[in-house]
Amino acid sequence: MDTDINHKKGEIDMMPIGPLMIEHRLIERMIKQFQKELDTIRDSKPANLDFVDQAVDFIRTYADRCHHGKEEDILFRDMERKPLTDELRKIRDELVEEHKWARAMTGKLVTAKAKYLEGDIAALGELIKTGEELIGFYPVHIIKEDKHFFLPVMKYFSREEQDKMLEEFFQFDQRLIHEKYRKEVEDMERGAG
Ligand SMILES: [Fe+2]
Ligand SMILES: [Fe+2]
Repeated sequence: MDTDINHKKGEIDMMPIGPLMIEHRLIERMIKQFQKELDTIRDSKPANLDFVDQAVDFIRTYADRCHHGKEEDILFRDMERKPLTDELRKIRDELVEEHKWARAMTGKLVTAKAKYLEGDIAALGELIKTGEELIGFYPVHIIKEDKHFFLPVMKYFSREEQDKMLEEFFQFDQRLIHEKYRKEVEDMERGAG
């Protein structure tokens, strides 16, 4: 069900899926860098794992909290009130499960890095395997949303409802930087306490 052929880019830019698609493009660029870094990690000894921290921060803050957050907390929430087809509901449920899977894999990446730094050499293989799984995951997840989900879903929302959603996306994004650093300070305070 490839329904985007009749939509011009300008039309999509005006929809709530416009910012989500722009975010997809940055995630794709990041994934390319992640692949490059993982190839370097695989070929060098001892492995320099600095990039893993950057990748984890990007995935957790941008891909998960900022991007999946808007999908789940706003778009998917508003879809609940719409008489969606079974097919779209099925895809929505799959997407939620995939977000959970990506969260779990990111946690695995953090654990593997910590184990390697503690001297567990075998954890490097686990880290590379988990990184490769995330690298393989994102493009497929993104294609599912871009090509088979976003546009058919938008048909259920009036122009007014879409504008309201765009405004809520904007407010959601505005809160994030404050949320991130408030949490960091709270974590530091807990650590110091
Ligand atoms: Fe998603
Ligand atoms: Fe997405």
